[in-house]
Amino acid sequence: MPRIWRPLLVGAVIVLAVFLLAQAQVFEPSASTGGPATGGDFYAGQLVFERECAACHGLQGEGGSGPRLEGTGLGAEVVSSQIRQGSGVMPAGLVSGQDEADVVAYVVSIAGS
Ligand code: HEC
Repeated sequence: MPRIWRPLLVGAVIVLAVFLLAQAQVFEPSASTGGPATGGDFYAGQLVFERECAACHGLQGEGGSGPRLEGTGLGAEVVSSQIRQGSGVMPAGLVSGQDEADVVAYVVSIAGS
């Protein structure tokens, strides 16, 4: 093989390796790889809720400009996907990672499911 091709081949292999690693999401935090956020902390979630959600959903999730969450029986999947996708005037991605897991634990708990 002519020498000129070697650097190109090495470059191509590096690009491919980086691409495959990115595809495998080796370096992504596990919380963002699909499925509802679980394992959150209720008490931390309450603080996140008061900071990010209470303005619309009420301090205890009793409802306000946003719908009531307390006692609605909403499950983790619904709460997680609502947080990630948003809808209506509720913006998507208000919280993520540990904050998301915590607030999901809190909302599921006040929803009573
Ligand atoms: C700007 C106001 C606003 C904020 C802030 C907000 N929401 Fe909402 N939320 C809404 C509105 C309005 C809806 C109804 C959306 C619709 O009708 O499509 C909603 C819907 C929801 C639902 C679905 C309720 C159901 O019965 O299906 C959940 C769960 C929810 N919000 C949780 C949260 C959480 C958790 C936070 C904080 C991280 C939050 N919201 C922050 C306004 C808000």
